[in-house]
Amino acid sequence: MSEIKKENQKLSVVKTGDERSPDTSYTEYLMEDAKTVPEFMVEETYEYLGSEDIDTSRYISKEFFEKERDCMWTRVWQFACRVEDIPEVGDSLVYDILDWSFLIVRSEEDKIQAFYNSCLHRGRRIKTERGFGKDLQCPFHGFCWNLDGSLKFTPAPWDFQHIKDRDFKLPEVRVEIWEGFVFINMDDKAVSLEEYLAPLPEHHKRWNLGDCKKVIHVSKVVPGNWKTVQEAFMESFHATLIHPEILPFQADENARYDIYGDHMNRNIALTGKPSPNLKNVDEQEILDTIFYGSGRMAADDKILVPEGEEARKVAAQAMRDAFNEADGHDYSDKSDAEMLDAIVYNVFPNFSPWGGFPRNLIYRFRPNGNREDSAIMEAMFLQRNHKDPDKQEKYEPIPIHYLNDDENWDDAEELTGIGFIFDQDMGNIPEVERGIRASKSGKITYANYQESRLRHYHQTMDKYIAKGPFKP
Ligand code: FES
Ligand SMILES: [Fe+2]
Repeated sequence: MSEIKKENQKLSVVKTGDERSPDTSYTEYLMEDAKTVPEFMVEETYEYLGSEDIDTSRYISKEFFEKERDCMWTRVWQFACRVEDIPEVGDSLVYDILDWSFLIVRSEEDKIQAFYNSCLHRGRRIKTERGFGKDLQCPFHGFCWNLDGSLKFTPAPWDFQHIKDRDFKLPEVRVEIWEGFVFINMDDKAVSLEEYLAPLPEHHKRWNLGDCKKVIHVSKVVPGNWKTVQEAFMESFHATLIHPEILPFQADENARYDIYGDHMNRNIALTGKPSPNLKNVDEQEILDTIFYGSGRMAADDKILVPEGEEARKVAAQAMRDAFNEADGHDYSDKSDAEMLDAIVYNVFPNFSPWGGFPRNLIYRFRPNGNREDSAIMEAMFLQRNHKDPDKQEKYEPIPIHYLNDDENWDDAEELTGIGFIFDQDMGNIPEVERGIRASKSGKITYANYQESRLRHYHQTMDKYIAKGPFKP
């Protein structure tokens, strides 16, 4: 059985902020890849962002939460749904954020529009859930709009003579689409989605998430600030104590952290080498834990690592073969890294599309209504369409699986092998939420490198707050 190393490790210090784990780095591991790794994965894009402490009020105060609401949420591009969630003309769904609610509608075959989900009569939410119809009718008194937002029907028109000459069109919110992800933005003057996301689209081009469909969508309310919850998925540092089961195959402390502009950052954790905090792991144990504990692929039969070979290479090849068989695409020249590693991209403020070729995990984190101490976390999986259109199964949009407060992620059977990992994070969050309130100093201290992505987002948040409130 593997055991946690106790001895202190010597740091090779260059200058503040440039320190790295003394173990083999992620980039060094990439040099051993069986195939060519794309340059944007090899390239390290990191800058030292400072070491100042962070005020705990950013996580717990209503005042800070309101600043986020007024200055940030009204200005940013937010992932609302996937195009395949509303495949037919007339399909619609609701995306809520804080007090706002938006109605996302496929108004034409090639057009998706989004409206403020508030009836122009007495304000009722026009829709509360996913639906299908030829028009958008408010259930209170029956005002009805066409799918493009123009007014279709007025109940008791004799009593609404005064709206005749008015534009009673449903107010729209900006919509732009990237690789099948539908985004909305309340700020008409915001930069385009493409500019906002850059360089994400360039990196992701190769993985082509536009050719995938959502096959799993699970949602859970988590008792913690939305950033506390999101940040639990932005560093690999906590794996040693919170996720001991993955240490045989996940090189946690060697993980890479990259920062790009204001809105994007990335964490890549290598799969197929053990954590430096673990010793005496044999190659077969590594392979077994990848297949039974990573959630990205389940092998029916036990695969053996041949004498003298490495689990990482065997696992990568098994993934190439399995996905080729499942979806017909040719993965023979795809790198070990892209077949195995946790390539976790984050887009400010709350969207996280994993990179790589196997089923891609997508996270979304947002406040639960107007509460600073409760969040909604969602996990989705995208699956690549079969290369041969004749072999593509007819797609039916999948309903969101809402977990109750007394249900665990592991109760969602579709999250094979990964639900228990989320549950380990969930067990920790209420204690972070509680403990942060018990702080004497009112400060927390981040690691310079491993928690640089957290700091990056706080700095971006400050830039939005500095702009002052924006009311759509
Ligand atoms: S509130 Fe919508 S029709 Fe009256
Ligand atoms: Fe975790």
